[in-house]
Amino acid sequence: MHVLVAYASRHGATQGIAERIAETLGKAGIQAEARPVSEVKSLAGYDAFVVGSAAYMFKWLKDASAFVRRNRAVLTAKPVWFFSSGPTGGPLDAKGRDQKLTTVPKDAAELAEAVHARDLRIFFGAYSRDRKPVGLAERFMSVMPAMEGVPEGDFRDWPDIEAWASGIAEELSLVAPASR
Ligand SMILES: Cc1cc2nc3c(=O)[nH]c(=O)nc-3n(C[C@H](O)[C@H](O)[C@H](O)COP(=O)(O)O)c2cc1C
Repeated sequence: MHVLVAYASRHGATQGIAERIAETLGKAGIQAEARPVSEVKSLAGYDAFVVGSAAYMFKWLKDASAFVRRNRAVLTAKPVWFFSSGPTGGPLDAKGRDQKLTTVPKDAAELAEAVHARDLRIFFGAYSRDRKPVGLAERFMSVMPAMEGVPEGDFRDWPDIEAWASGIAEELSLVAPASR
């Protein structure tokens, strides 16, 4: 069993989540590697996939959605799980709504359905106002008053991330070789 954890990350929070997922799978005896989607040239040789992206402006990063579209046939044929590194802050937003439910990126939900992903899991991410914006859109956004409301800090919930990855390891241990 060889699993690829493919991710798109702008500032490293999602990369950290992907690496922890691969590490947790490794501890469960599953060969797994985390790689940026932009560096994945071929999906040959992998038995299952975890695909994740940071959410920016209610969408996945283009690299991640393009990766899923381009590899749709292979991903549909194998066990696949999605995760999104999204809201920063507590479980509820300022209006008392569940942040994980209100920030599911629409494109990720559609792509998850298209490839029959077994789950689309939203994880809290990380954000710091001090970091250098990546790209024009982010530079523009960083001076918008709306960004003042984005909670700053590292909200990644490592036990939650590890528990999710352990669940994947359990499911994979039940996958019959013939259906791989
Ligand atoms: C300009 C900007 C826009 C963002 N938009 C969203 C969003 O629409 N939904 C969301 O859940 N998180 C949003 N976030 C939070 C990021 O997704 C979060 O910080 C994520 O963990 C960053 O991952 P990365 O370090 O891998 O790039 C936004 C952050 C910034 C700076």
